[in-house]
Amino acid sequence: MNHKSGNQGERASGLILVTGGAGFIGSNFVLDWFDQLDRDAELQTHTSVALVNLDKLTYAGNAGNLAALRGRPDYTFVHGDICDGGLVARLLAQHRPAAIVHFAAETHVDRSISAPDAFLRTNIDGTFTLLQAARAHFDTLAGEECERFRFLHVSTDEVYGTLQPDDPAFSESTPYAPNSPYAASKAASDHLVRAWHHTYGLPTLITNCSNNYGPLHFPEKLIPLMLTHALAGKPLPVYGDGQQVRDWLYVRDHCSAIRAVLAGGRPGETYNVGGGNQRSNLKVVRTLCALLDELRPESPFTPHAQLIRFVTDRPGHDRRYAIDARKLEQELGWHAQETFESGLRKTVAWYLANSAWVDNVTSGAYQNWVQQNYSRRAISETAMESVHIKAGEAE
Ligand code: NAD
Ligand code: DAU
Repeated sequence: MNHKSGNQGERASGLILVTGGAGFIGSNFVLDWFDQLDRDAELQTHTSVALVNLDKLTYAGNAGNLAALRGRPDYTFVHGDICDGGLVARLLAQHRPAAIVHFAAETHVDRSISAPDAFLRTNIDGTFTLLQAARAHFDTLAGEECERFRFLHVSTDEVYGTLQPDDPAFSESTPYAPNSPYAASKAASDHLVRAWHHTYGLPTLITNCSNNYGPLHFPEKLIPLMLTHALAGKPLPVYGDGQQVRDWLYVRDHCSAIRAVLAGGRPGETYNVGGGNQRSNLKVVRTLCALLDELRPESPFTPHAQLIRFVTDRPGHDRRYAIDARKLEQELGWHAQETFESGLRKTVAWYLANSAWVDNVTSGAYQNWVQQNYSRRAISETAMESVHIKAGEAE
């Protein structure tokens, strides 16, 4: 661990309440949390820190992600909705958490374009409900419990809008300019968190992170979608010209950043999190194809890049995201451990070894979403002709 606050030690006693801990980042965070605890216990440097996970188990949530924790006395799963104020209040009164780490959200930009309602409900109303309950809980705390309490809101770089090719990366003082219903709902939730700190003194922390990738990533998002399609010999649908840039971070590096901010972040502050890995979508997809060619040379779909298709773009598609994470690095000593290449290799290896997980999450309703989102997107012959797709080439 490379940062000063590498484990939960500084805020060690008590329990934390996690929301959305059965989703992609949340389940990696919960698994990572217990990995750290077990490591500390082996070193006999640590007392137990329990975790309660509140998750609605929407299409994106999967209790099976956390099967390894079944039977642990320090882990509790609660199936419920963050919009249920009564439930949240009861959980806070019962468990008296030292911190709330808030992941729960609707997260897929394409779904927010098709059906924004759930995004406003969970991301805005749900965050409001949690803040109100957290405030009431905070008011009951005294002494060390009060000093220690934190509300950490996990947010996104999409609140800052889009960058031109030569613009500097997003910093914590970049003005908000959200462009999709998803980004607008996250921006609204960030503003609520900020206001609950300034008005009511709730000790909040906000992290704004760039695109994550890694194990347990639901295959509606770019990297796992391309991976699962390529393995099945299905078309790889690249939106527009594929030159949109995202700044990729391996999910466990995001988890360590959240732990660092929880342990040492200053209440009321925002911390940007990113891996410094800007890549165009086309380059990401070609790199994935080349990795599959290497790891699955016997596949009938090799070279996998032949499956790439340029399809109708996402409306309002942000061209480029990039994160300036210097505040987090300089204040809290955090640094990403994985390069894009090492993280992507680990990710591909995980998907190859976990085909049962993929089969489970891509059955049923997922197929309806794929049909709904992709059947209406025409293949662009012009884009196909203007970009020469050579097998294995990553540009
Ligand atoms: P995800 O879609 O994989 O998982 C979301 C989880 O929240 C699911 O387990 C779902 O069941 C749960 N949930 C949804 N609505 C709920 C509700 N009303 N009550 C309780 N639980 C509910 O999301 P993710 O990609 O893991 O993202 C987690 C958080 O991190 C989100 O707040 C997202 O905005 C943020 N974020 C994600 C990324 C990324 O690249 N994935 C990057 C930056 C920030
Ligand atoms: O930047 C952080 C955000 O990253 C998170 O806040 C969001 O929750 C998360 O979903 C992600 O948003 P993106 O829209 O960047 O991720 P997505 O995987 O949907 O798309 C990544 C890029 O790939 C984007 O430019 C659109 C493109 N794309 C995506 C899909 C699903 C394609 O070209 N084809 C596709 O089929």
